Amino acid sequence: MAVFLYQVGEKMGLIEVQDLYYKYNDSEEWVLNGINLDIKDGEFLVIVGHNGSGKSTLAKMLNGLLVPNQGTVDVNGDKTSDRDKIWDIRQQVGMVFQNPDNQLVANIVEEDIAFGPENLGLESSEIRKRVDNSLKAVAMEEFKRYAPHNLSGGQKQRVAIAGVLAMQPKCLVLDEPTAMLDPVGRKSVMDAIQKLNKGLGMTIVHITHFMTEAIQADRIIVMEEGKIVLEGTPRDIFSQVDKIKEYHLDVPQVTELAFKLHQQGLKISPDIFDIDRLVNKLCYLK
Ligand SMILES: Nc1ncnc2c1ncn2[C@@H]1O[C@H](COP(=O)(O)OP(=O)(O)O)[C@@H](O)[C@H]1O
Ligand SMILES: [Mg+2]
Repeated sequence: MAVFLYQVGEKMGLIEVQDLYYKYNDSEEWVLNGINLDIKDGEFLVIVGHNGSGKSTLAKMLNGLLVPNQGTVDVNGDKTSDRDKIWDIRQQVGMVFQNPDNQLVANIVEEDIAFGPENLGLESSEIRKRVDNSLKAVAMEEFKRYAPHNLSGGQKQRVAIAGVLAMQPKCLVLDEPTAMLDPVGRKSVMDAIQKLNKGLGMTIVHITHFMTEAIQADRIIVMEEGKIVLEGTPRDIFSQVDKIKEYHLDVPQVTELAFKLHQQGLKISPDIFDIDRLVNKLCYLK
């Protein structure tokens, strides 16, 4: 008899991390210390945590760049420890790093995007299609004949994202992709990521230390010393302002203000992170 594992409307599991432990060769302590995490297909997950908490190490686990010492990482049913499956896994889970300059290989944008599909040995018509679609997905189609060094940081990072998209992954893992960008560049990259998630249903794992980015997630996990110490919707997480500070993280400014007004006895919920909502609450306060 057929068994329905998922209810209609519920997202399917894409990546499953179970009892994951990891340490680098020369380290005494576990850098990842018992991580359990399910990432659903189409989910927008944000990972936050202060420096050294293990975020980048976890990111590299998700596409098999690193493999667990103990425990498992499953991508769409395949274990990253299964070396026969590793190329398939790396194609399904694309990685974007902090510095776009380290990720661009060619002298012309479109050649850069074509690099991955060419290595897959695809036909030139298919490569062309993928290059155009990928550039369009990050709103960079008009720059396809530009030299990357003539682009802004945000534009370069969007080209780096397009290069990964050309491999047609199911999931994008972005490790602080906005850390080196100015506010305009940051917004353009976040807009592109949002469009990939909401428009194309792509699964996103986004690591950031900008809380204004974290509030855009479906779910946030907070890491500390190789463990997941908090997990929930942005509202769940930022309603715990004291705890967030305990983990050396910032609270969105709007939330901080709402929290302080609440502490002063105003009838304002302490977990507001939307400026319009706070203004609205203040205007109608009796
Ligand atoms: N290649 C490496 N070799 C040895 N130790 C490392 C290496 N990369 C990271 N670490 C250590 O692992 C811990 C977690 O690092 P990382 O995953 O980069 O954290 P985060 O991305 O949260 O800043 C840190 O203590 C860091 O020093
Ligand atoms: Mg890091």
